[in-house]
Amino acid sequence: LPDFHIRPLFGRDFDRGFLELVSQLSPVNLDIDAARAIFITRLQARVYTWVALLKDRPIATASMFIEPKWIHAGGKVAHVEDVVVDSEYRKHGVGRLLIHALEREARAKGCYKMILDCSAEAVAFYERCSFRAHETAMRLNLARVTDVAER
Ligand SMILES: CC(C)(COP(=O)(O)OP(=O)(O)OC[C@H]1O[C@@H](n2cnc3c(N)ncnc32)[C@H](O)[C@@H]1OP(=O)(O)O)[C@@H](O)C(=O)NCCC(=O)NCCS
Repeated sequence: LPDFHIRPLFGRDFDRGFLELVSQLSPVNLDIDAARAIFITRLQARVYTWVALLKDRPIATASMFIEPKWIHAGGKVAHVEDVVVDSEYRKHGVGRLLIHALEREARAKGCYKMILDCSAEAVAFYERCSFRAHETAMRLNLARVTDVAER
């Protein structure tokens, strides 16, 4: 794809289809003002969002936060979340370049590994990005997701 670039999320991206992009992963159910408030909460929690842009339009996103561990002498782990490429732009290498941008960031911040949970369908993609399957993801539901915003 010509001329796309990757940078951290800016507030103006909400006016250019960022939430519609995220909703390709799972329902968002936020208006732009609520999303801006969550953006601030995420920044305070150091959960960082990246976007790939084509002519100012977000066509892919991924998020990452860094955990300093007790083990490995306080070594840092990068956790990757909510990776999605706009369905119109898949299979053009955007996802891989986005993951590589996060990898560079994780290396620059001194992380010793990057980890993520993904669907079985996404395994081949992450293997192409040099990840390997490791251990097993576990989940305990604590609320219906539709209830979460009211809590
Ligand atoms: C998975 C996803 C992020 C991949 O993004 P993408 O931009 O299409 O991937 P790329 O074009 O960068 O692909 C990189 C490599 O992975 C391969 N690949 C991508 N998607 C694949 C798939 N579903 N199955 C097999 N291989 C795949 C590509 O063929 C390419 O291989 P190559 O190294 O031989 O060229 C994108 O398809 C997507 O958003 N899917 C829906 C949401 C999702 O599943 N997110 C991840 C869940 S955690």
